[in-house]
Formats: sequence, structure tokens, C-alpha cells
Amino acid sequence: MDIRILRPSDLPLIQHANLENLPENYFLKYYLYHALSWPQLSYVAVDVSRPKKSAYDYPKIVGYVLAKMEEEPTDGVQHGHITSLSVMRTHRRLGIAEKLMRQSQLAMVETFGAHYVSLHVRVSNEAAIHLYRDTLQFATEKTEPKYYADGEDAFCMKLDLSFLRDQIRDEEGDEEEEEAEAGGEQGRSVGVDEGEAVGSAGKAESKAETKRKVKVGRALGVGELVERNESSTA
Ligand code: ACO
Repeated sequence: MDIRILRPSDLPLIQHANLENLPENYFLKYYLYHALSWPQLSYVAVDVSRPKKSAYDYPKIVGYVLAKMEEEPTDGVQHGHITSLSVMRTHRRLGIAEKLMRQSQLAMVETFGAHYVSLHVRVSNEAAIHLYRDTLQFATEKTEPKYYADGEDAFCMKLDLSFLRDQIRDEEGDEEEEEAEAGGEQGRSVGVDEGEAVGSAGKAESKAETKRKVKVGRALGVGELVERNESSTA
């Protein structure tokens, strides 16, 4: 099983899963709006073990989470929102929904600095309420009467994401410490003669290869560290 970021080409399969699993359905353009506006936040679970019948047989999508950032938060606090989550009946109770949710929550914090994540769930949806309240620790904020088209009420649920912000800050602190230690090690070995490049060609080459590790920031949703070639910026 692969949990990976949603690609626009997955959208027809996600729409299919949504139609199979939930009464709240959307036009394809609404899925596309999520995928193009917040490409970091939505994830799919792909059953890669499924035997391929032909080279064009796309791996089956067995679960998805469709998420976004609230564009105009009424409370003025930057936060994410789970628009839709579902897992195909054949693949339930394997921890897939939990993993999809945790991935999306992390991306909300790393990429957009979300403070919390919100969602609506039918008051009768025991499986989803168990997942949100007991497994993921969401709190019920209020009940919204007749939220759904058929007149059912919704629980408005919310999860404070400061635990993830702290976790990320701690990890960054550890990385900085490791870097500082590595720098110290290098500093201590300055006196050791390891031999120099011979001739001007050797020197020019070693200058051209000078690289420095730079942080590009989790906020961009990319790797924490990249190697930038410093030689051209000198
Ligand atoms: N009854 C009680 N608890 C359940 C049930 C159930 N039917 N299904 C899952 N759980 C519990 C699991 O035991 C697990 O708890 P644990 O951490 O104590 O072990 C927890 O929920 C997470 O289980 P997962 O295996 O990650 O959940 P799963 O992959 O089966 O997906 C989901 C759960 C998404 C609710 C699935 O049942 C489903 O697709 N239902 C139909 C669609 C739906 O209701 N989606 C949510 C709508 S709300 C929204 O979209 C914002």
C-alpha cells in the first residue's frame, strides 16, 4: 500500500470512491480546485500490489483525503479543513484513514503553518467519529443542526495542531545542533594536513565544487536541506 500526494490524474478515481462511499458528492471541478490550489494537502492510498492486466492499467486507489486551507477564516486563524475522507469497504480497518489524515495534518502545518484543522461529520457516523475523536483526538466544537441536505445534523470538530508545530520545531533544533556539531568536527580537523590540490587547474576545480547546505524551509513543503552550488554566486 502506498500513501502518496494526490495527482490531478487521480481525480476520476477519487470521484468514483467518493460516490461509492459517501452521500456528499462534488463536481469534478471541485476536486480539481483542491488539487490545484493546495496540492500539498490531499493524499491517496494506492493498492500497488494489485496485478496489472496491461501496461495502462492504473493502480487502484482505495482511499483518499481531500483537504484545503480555509481561505477566509472567520476567526482570523490560519487553519486547514478536511473536505472529504473515505476508504473503500474492501480496505477498511487497516489504518489507512488514520494515515491519510496524519499526512494531511502534517502538510497543513509544514506548508501553510496551520494552527488547527476542522471538519464536519454526520452525528450518526460512528466509524468516522471514532477515528476523529478517539484515534486522532479531535474535539467536538458544536453541533450544526440540519447541516446536510437530508436534514441530518453535523458535529463540527477541531484538532489543535500545536503538537505538530512543537514536533517540527524540536526536529529543526536537533538538525541545527547536528550541523553545529559537524561544523565543530571540521573546525577541529583544520590543523590536519590532508594534502592540497596540485596546480591551478586543481584549485579552480575545487572552487567550482564549493557547496553549502542551505535550509529551504519546511514552509515550502520541499526537502529540508538542499545543496546549492555557491561557486556561481561568488
Ligand atoms: N466502528 C468503530 N470504529 C471504527 C470503525 C467502525 N466501523 N472503522 C474504523 N474504526 C476505528 C478503528 O478501529 C481505528 O481505531 P483505533 O485507532 O482505536 O484502532 C480508527 O477508527 C481508525 O481506523 P482506520 O482503519 O484508519 O479507518 P478506515 O481506514 O477503516 O476508515 C472511514 C475509516 C474513513 C470512516 C471509513 O469507514 C469510510 O470510508 N467510511 C465511509 C465514508 C465516511 O464516513 N467518511 C468520513 C466522512 S466525514 C468527512 O469526510 C470529513
